[in-house]
Amino acid sequence: MEILGIDIGGSGIKGAIVNTETGELLTGRERIDTPQPATPDAVSETVKKLVDHFEWRGRIGVGFPAVVQNGVAQTASNIDKGWIGTHVGNSFTAYTKNPYIVVNDADAAGLAEVKFGAGKGKSGLLMVITVGTGIGSAIISNGQLVPNTELGHLRFKGGIAEKYTADSIRKSEGLSWEEWGTRFNEYLEHVYRLFYPNLIIIGGGASKKFDKFRNLINIPAEVIPAELQNQAGIVGAALAGLQD
Ligand code: BGC
Repeated sequence: MEILGIDIGGSGIKGAIVNTETGELLTGRERIDTPQPATPDAVSETVKKLVDHFEWRGRIGVGFPAVVQNGVAQTASNIDKGWIGTHVGNSFTAYTKNPYIVVNDADAAGLAEVKFGAGKGKSGLLMVITVGTGIGSAIISNGQLVPNTELGHLRFKGGIAEKYTADSIRKSEGLSWEEWGTRFNEYLEHVYRLFYPNLIIIGGGASKKFDKFRNLINIPAEVIPAELQNQAGIVGAALAGLQD
């Protein structure tokens, strides 16, 4: 099936039409900066621009950077607080008539990596940790996703983990790759000691730069970059769009 996948991030909103049987992008990837503040109206208008760009009239799967339960956003770390309690899909439908299926962005990336990427054919406990403006997580046990885990919000070093080691923190604090990679390894080690995953896949913007910090990662589990890199979010959003 062909579905428009849209990945809403703290800094960019990206979309492409995806073949959900193969995971391939059938179009180029279109990206628009996330409006600031990322209010429901401003984000919905941006989503409309993407839908208009693709002239898309069918189903749309969306990865959204918050806890999403039954379509309703429950948190808002890197988006406007006005989203809390809002039915995300209904907000978009008010701007374009398409049906929307909305899931957490890291869960979407997790689905894509397990089906088409670095987690394909792997058994046991897998984790996808997305590293970008925030830190997101997906936990998949023998193919089954546990939705809405928020391992970027684990209490760590006197605050929450994403404020210590997100990619945006590397940039805002001007950390070298060595400094940031050392922090990130501490965080992964903490996660490892809590969940004992067999494999951790690193997604989000940082997945493209994995070579810059791979030598600083030293935990007992295998840690590898997402194969779909940060397209995992778009592909996984499209996969989520298959749900009824
Ligand atoms: C949000 C998560 C999201 C992650 C990555 C975090 O701040 O709480 O829901 O998955 O950022 O976007």
